[in-house]
Amino acid sequence: MDDKKLIFSAIQPTGTFTLGNYIGAVRNWGPLQEQYNCIYCVADLHAITVKQEPAKLRQNTLAAYALLMACGLDPERSILFIQSHAHTHNDLNWLLCCNTQFGELSRMTQFKDKSQKHPDDVNAGLFTYPSLMAADILAYNADLVPVGVDQKQHLELARNIAQRFNQRYGDFFKLPEPYITEVGAKIMSLQDPTKKMSKSDENVNACILILDDKDTIVRKFKRAVTDSEAEVAFREGKDGINNLMSIYSCVTGKDYAAIEAEFAGKGYGDFKLAVGEAVADSLEPVRTEFARLINDKAYLKDCYTKGAEKAMKISSRIVSKAYHKVGFVDRPF
Ligand code: TRP
Repeated sequence: MDDKKLIFSAIQPTGTFTLGNYIGAVRNWGPLQEQYNCIYCVADLHAITVKQEPAKLRQNTLAAYALLMACGLDPERSILFIQSHAHTHNDLNWLLCCNTQFGELSRMTQFKDKSQKHPDDVNAGLFTYPSLMAADILAYNADLVPVGVDQKQHLELARNIAQRFNQRYGDFFKLPEPYITEVGAKIMSLQDPTKKMSKSDENVNACILILDDKDTIVRKFKRAVTDSEAEVAFREGKDGINNLMSIYSCVTGKDYAAIEAEFAGKGYGDFKLAVGEAVADSLEPVRTEFARLINDKAYLKDCYTKGAEKAMKISSRIVSKAYHKVGFVDRPF
């Protein structure tokens, strides 16, 4: 191995990514391949902590894998795989579960939110979700983990679990650091700009999916909720316009002053159209590449097979050592 730092991240296969996932996360992962060794997986194990329809999960997992590639992750340069193909994650998960406290897991806000949302299915997997996430990261001794704000608490817990393991069994795991990308951290709903953009929103116009076609994208932006003024300016209280400006800025690279100048004297209608077109154009290559990949199942299979082999090679070494540390008799095979 070279001396580049190692990045690990994962995304759940819950249908197409949103513009928020794209700008806030996935879009930034491609460029990281220049500077870091990168490992990314599709977190299908995490996905089943809430009910999934099996055929749909399989389809979504493959689609998420192809989407990661379409968004610029190169399976030759990075390790790109499907989480359930590397059983090492689950092997390590058990050790970590035994080093995670009930109280710690109970304090996770995502657990509280999700158990409220699905009161009929508060399963043990949902509860121990963060220790599996810690296992994902620690099985590779990753240095950096790009995560959104909603996953920061889980990453903190991963560090605490690693630390506890190290105290008990001697220094072993690296403590992973969050890798926060500066721009576009949070994209809000187009229908209620005080809420995060989410694909589970009942209102389809609230959310841009990265595989939406150009007409759909432009139409959703045309319907975006703004305010009763008519000035394209980034200001307190103008949540809708602020959100559109931040999206426009993310996809064009223009700063707010330049955007204000560009639309001085023009109405919201012109601005919304411009944002919609800019977003649609920037997603065009992703859509085209995705369509090509998803129709080439043999190539996808070849990529995720090689990815899983590489992932297993690294993680099995680390997990075997962890098993030895806790006092298990070394595996005979
Ligand atoms: N829980 C993350 C999410 O929902 C996905 C994830 C699973 C992850 N394992 C991970 C993210 C490890 C970073 C590192 O977004």
